[in-house]
Amino acid sequence: MSNSKVVLVTGVSSGIGCAAATKFAERGCRVFGTVRNTAKAQAIPGVTLIEMDIRDDVSVDRGIQAIIAQAKRIDVLVNNAGVTLLGATEETSIAEAQTLFETNLFGLLRVIKAVLPHMRQQRSGRIVNVSSVVGFLCSPYMALYAASKYAVEGLSESLDHEVRQFGIRVSLVEPSFTKTNLDLNAPQTAARIPDYSKELAIVTKAFQNNVQKAPTPEGVVATMVSAARRSGLIACSASMISRAATFSSWSAGEACTSPASSGSIEASPRRFTLRIWSMNK
Ligand SMILES: NC(=O)c1ccc[n+]([C@@H]2O[C@H](COP(=O)([O-])OP(=O)(O)OC[C@H]3O[C@@H](n4cnc5c(N)ncnc54)[C@H](OP(=O)(O)O)[C@@H]3O)[C@@H](O)[C@H]2O)c1
Repeated sequence: MSNSKVVLVTGVSSGIGCAAATKFAERGCRVFGTVRNTAKAQAIPGVTLIEMDIRDDVSVDRGIQAIIAQAKRIDVLVNNAGVTLLGATEETSIAEAQTLFETNLFGLLRVIKAVLPHMRQQRSGRIVNVSSVVGFLCSPYMALYAASKYAVEGLSESLDHEVRQFGIRVSLVEPSFTKTNLDLNAPQTAARIPDYSKELAIVTKAFQNNVQKAPTPEGVVATMVSAARRSGLIACSASMISRAATFSSWSAGEACTSPASSGSIEASPRRFTLRIWSMNK
């Protein structure tokens, strides 16, 4: 990637976004990183912080206009900001589901819609959408989070076909467990149905343990940088399949894995039917 590239990363206050913004800046890119509250945010060397809440149209438009006013263009958009939600599907209220989608799907869409006019005018651009392994694997007790990431996958793959004519490409990065604040920031559904409590407790503990014991974001960030440089193609890094394997062994359930594992990762992940979640009781 040329040093003069202008890169926008959403959600750089912590975790993967912070590491990604740092890496792009170290590579000499001109980096803008969004935070919800600039007064509370930690400075990141080489990164200009932009205040933006991706749930808010006005905030997104204002943030993108501020970047365009300073840099005149946006070459790479990394849609990283995201939230999760733990709880049984039946315990999830419609309002909780809507709140989750407001960030993970509509927030991402808002930023894309604000950036695309500039990329179309430039006739070039890269959009890197951060999904998750649960964007293609099932994940009980995180159904709405998984649904939002599946939606990100559908949106990304369709969008890639629409904007390719303008020299713009869309990629998906699908991390597995990565050591960040995601588990600490993870809200739980307000309602509790006792029938689910035993399994929910197992899943919640496993989620927290696995995020905290997981690798730091460097591997995911390397994938993001490679996706930003890639000349197209919905893809993930070679690490994706090994990460999926890690994910499946974590569940310790029946891993019904058809073909997969060591083959080319450029194939659609949907070819791999993983039924990984039979609970380990
Ligand atoms: N960690 C993992 O194991 C893992 C695995 C797969 C996928 N992912 C995905 O990776 C991405 C980054 O997550 P992370 O693990 O780095 O978690 P994190 O440390 O909790 O970071 C999430 C970031 O998103 C920002 N954010 C949340 N809601 C926002 C909003 N409405 N507007 C703007 N920014 C908002 C947060 O900013 P505030 O400080 O303002 O809240 C924070 O900077 C997410 O999309 C997540 O789904 C993570």
